Amino acid sequence: MIDLQNIEKTYQTANGPLRAVNGVSVHIGKGEVFGFIGFSGAGKSTLLRCINMLEHPDSGKVIVDGEELTSLSKKELLKKRQSIGMIFQHYNLLLNSTVFKNAAFPLEIVGVTKDAIQKRVTRSLEIVDLREKEKEYPARLSGGQKQRVAIARAIVTEPKILLCDEVTSALDPQTTQTILHYLKPMSTS
Ligand SMILES: Nc1ncnc2c1ncn2[C@@H]1O[C@H](COP(=O)(O)OP(=O)(O)O)[C@@H](O)[C@H]1O
Ligand SMILES: [Mg+2]
Repeated sequence: MIDLQNIEKTYQTANGPLRAVNGVSVHIGKGEVFGFIGFSGAGKSTLLRCINMLEHPDSGKVIVDGEELTSLSKKELLKKRQSIGMIFQHYNLLLNSTVFKNAAFPLEIVGVTKDAIQKRVTRSLEIVDLREKEKEYPARLSGGQKQRVAIARAIVTEPKILLCDEVTSALDPQTTQTILHYLKPMSTS
């Protein structure tokens, strides 16, 4: 399902080139829950972001579902990203948009109809038990609720792949359990 072949990524920094990912190859099968573990700065986030091409590797191949992402046009990539959801450590919500609008964002950018958006966002918010907050703004939510909005946004396109980058590390242990409770069933469906 996910094939990373010899991925390399170097950043140009003020102190010169910094090799963040040095020739990593990984195969992840369908239904598999796969984690990258390593010290801070090891390159985990960079590698993860290569899977949906938020980060463009300098060399190597990213193949998702038999399709080589490194060779796709911007438009094709946007379409492909519909099948790859992502959640971040710091939620990355749109602060000036309601919970509903945040969850609707991935559908709006690809021109899904209003009716379909209504249906799919409602369903996503139901899954994370946040329907009653749909008109609220992120500033008025707890950390756990923000992360649940981020989950709703990530799953609204019904992706085949869910990329999670330290999604519970900003949360207390109890809220971490709640977030894992929502994520766990997704790994088996
Ligand atoms: N956009 C960037 N520009 C320059 N250096 C970066 C950038 N993103 C990450 N880095 C550097 O690349 C290395 C790997 O970072 P990262 O992938 O975030 O590691 P991890 O997620 O394992 O903590 C670190 O040294 C980090 O400082
Ligand atoms: Mg990281």
